[in-house]
Amino acid sequence: MNTLIGVAAFGLSLVATACSAGPPTSGPSTAPPAPTGFDDKSNGVADDATHQADQAKFEEFEAIPDGLGPLFNAQSCRECHQNPVTGGSSQILELRVGHKGRDGSFQNPEIPINGGSVVIKGRTLVNQRAICPNAAFPTTDIQERVPESETIHTFRTSVNLLGDGFVEAVDDSTLIEISRKQCKQDHGRICGLILYVPVVESPGATRVGRFGWKNQHASLLSFSGDAYINEMGLTNALFPDEVTDLCNTVAEPNNKPEEDGLADIDHFARFLRATKAPARDARQAATAAARKGETLFAKVGCDICHVPTLTTAPAGTVVNGGKFAIPEALGNKAFHPYSDFLLHDVGTGDGIGIAMVEHYGKHMYEIKWKDLSLEAHRSTANRMRTAPLWGVRTHPMLMHDGASMTFREAILRHRGEASEVTERFQRLNQADQQAIVEFLKSL
Ligand code: HEC
Ligand code: HEC
Repeated sequence: MNTLIGVAAFGLSLVATACSAGPPTSGPSTAPPAPTGFDDKSNGVADDATHQADQAKFEEFEAIPDGLGPLFNAQSCRECHQNPVTGGSSQILELRVGHKGRDGSFQNPEIPINGGSVVIKGRTLVNQRAICPNAAFPTTDIQERVPESETIHTFRTSVNLLGDGFVEAVDDSTLIEISRKQCKQDHGRICGLILYVPVVESPGATRVGRFGWKNQHASLLSFSGDAYINEMGLTNALFPDEVTDLCNTVAEPNNKPEEDGLADIDHFARFLRATKAPARDARQAATAAARKGETLFAKVGCDICHVPTLTTAPAGTVVNGGKFAIPEALGNKAFHPYSDFLLHDVGTGDGIGIAMVEHYGKHMYEIKWKDLSLEAHRSTANRMRTAPLWGVRTHPMLMHDGASMTFREAILRHRGEASEVTERFQRLNQADQQAIVEFLKSL
């Protein structure tokens, strides 16, 4: 790992002992608000020049000599995270597949490439691009294609990343408390799943998952390493193994720290931690309909899962298995993600479980991870993370699969744990239903 982040974490961890005594907050908060805006400026985690330099790394196009591929989806993080500014969402859909085993449980796919000379295992992602056949390897055909054995298919939309530093800075205990409250309040009908996931940069440590459609990660550095290998094919300190060695010509890891001690994934993580939260549409939010919709949103119970306000842990709190100390700019801030960051079965589950090797590395089974439950991981197959609604007005294709084109359509797809809330929505008169939609258009 790079030394700089390690040193910073150590320096700040001395502060932590003094500050982390207070209880976590999830109720009404007096904490100052997190800064919002689509303005490419830092939230205070880094100075603006550093933030822009980190953003340039996130936007950089990688090619074969840099280590791109052999299998990949895009050449830059920004290709999928750009709307309306770098770090937002996009229309890019990814493909995930698998099948059910004899016992009915989800099984990862087996995808033969190069005429079956190699079979890709341990991941549910199907990469849509490959670097060969090319001039150097004219007869090596590694394109992944879905075999008929893989009967479970889903698309997954590219999500918003802006403001994710605040999400990372939420204490596990805050999420656990939300889940407890939910499970009690609604006769256990709505009960978000807490999933402990490996912190890849701190082998053995786990934390409550909050990132990705299945909450497969808790750390932005872990997610950056995962995305670099799985979306772009660049091996890195956290994920040193190629998905396939066919057509591969660049030594591992493709990406090493530079003079400043930081590798690309460190820049990506710092860029994301320094982004401002999505800003609301102030004009739309001020309309009478949107204001009424906000009240109705809470009245029918949308806010049980789409929690309007969360508060981050105090500055200095050390998280991610000791690898990250929450900086001043992210500590004790109130923000409005409209999510509980928990997993629910709202009847839309894509049937795809979390592929352990894909997300935590080829050697993950050699490590003993605290509180890791394979059974809990398996139970995610039909659950999805409550989609955070901040910035939702910038997504024309809704839900994990992008298959809902209007807010009403997305709402009416909520079943399972959300059935009663959906029924209460349907019992509203047309004007009140529309008011909720007008409110969503302001987020
Ligand atoms: C080909 C499109 C694509 C590329 C390229 C891509 N991403 Fe993503 N990203 C996605 C999708 C899709 C998801 C949701 C994944 C899931 O859970 O299935 C996602 C999720 C994330 C998340 C989780 C955010 C949250 O709030 O849940 C982070 C962090 C992230 N990406 C960072 C990156 C970084 C850093 C890069 C570059 C190394 C990158 N991504 C490249 C498509 C992409
Ligand atoms: C039991 C928890 C729960 C309740 C209650 C709930 N939602 Fe959701 N919501 C979710 C989950 C989980 C998803 C993601 C589902 C998926 O993608 O398959 C979601 C997705 C959405 C989306 C799509 C967002 C996007 O970016 O694609 C919208 C819009 C939405 N919900 C609005 C509402 C509204 C309005 C209500 C109240 C009428 C409501 N939800 C009630 C859990 C809930």
